[in-house]
Amino acid sequence: MRAATAQSASAASDVCHLRRRIPLGHIFRNGASMFITFEGMEGSGKSTAMARIGKWLEDSGREVVYTREPGGSELGNRLRAILLDSRNSDIVPTAELFLYLADRAQHTAGVVRPALERGAFVLSDRFADSTIVYQGYGRGLDVAALENLNAIAVDGTWPDLTLLFDLDAATGLSRANARNVAEGKVMTEGRFEAEGLVFHTRVRQGFLAWAAKNPARFAVIDASRDMDAVFDEAKRTVMNRLACNDL
Ligand code: TYD
Repeated sequence: MRAATAQSASAASDVCHLRRRIPLGHIFRNGASMFITFEGMEGSGKSTAMARIGKWLEDSGREVVYTREPGGSELGNRLRAILLDSRNSDIVPTAELFLYLADRAQHTAGVVRPALERGAFVLSDRFADSTIVYQGYGRGLDVAALENLNAIAVDGTWPDLTLLFDLDAATGLSRANARNVAEGKVMTEGRFEAEGLVFHTRVRQGFLAWAAKNPARFAVIDASRDMDAVFDEAKRTVMNRLACNDL
């Protein structure tokens, strides 16, 4: 155990039975690596928390790879431009699904897996759970089918830990809209923000339901608090997992 204190290790031991590393099938995985995904609705603060967690890990001497979906690869960046452009309002749910899956397959094989193989910590702003929630719970596509398609796209590379930043839909949406206006991204990145509150409420409920079904991997963080409190809880959660994994 390198980073965690004795105190955090003993706190962690209570939850370690829930928090075993997810087996990675045939993929060679450097024992020091860790794959952490950050999920939640727009405006939940997950991207800010991810940057702070990454900085904290880097300060403790680890190599950190920051990535995201959609857009973690070169191909993914081109897909991202299509997927988030609010002028593309006519993309049907199934076409949308396959674009996200193409992004994921390229991202996982080309970015995530090589980094894990060399022992880096990989932090991804969204990953496979977003497809279950947005295309499944949000758009109404069959969740069991999405699980199978995700399995093809990630080919055994699942996150060790997923932090879900939970926030009520109205607050998240108004934060995300304000950010898009401030950054001039309403047109180029606003396709999901343009969905109504009903859609985003389904997304929030979907995230919570999906997290409850996958308690070994998910930690739910109340993102309605101030950023420092949210970061502290996220950091504690990662420390506990590091202790469980003897990292
Ligand atoms: P992103 O820039 O991550 O939004 P934010 O920073 O506001 O969270 O935008 C990604 C959008 O794509 C987001 O609205 C959710 C959606 N999405 C899906 O619908 N399915 C997916 O599989 C993924 C990865 C994202």
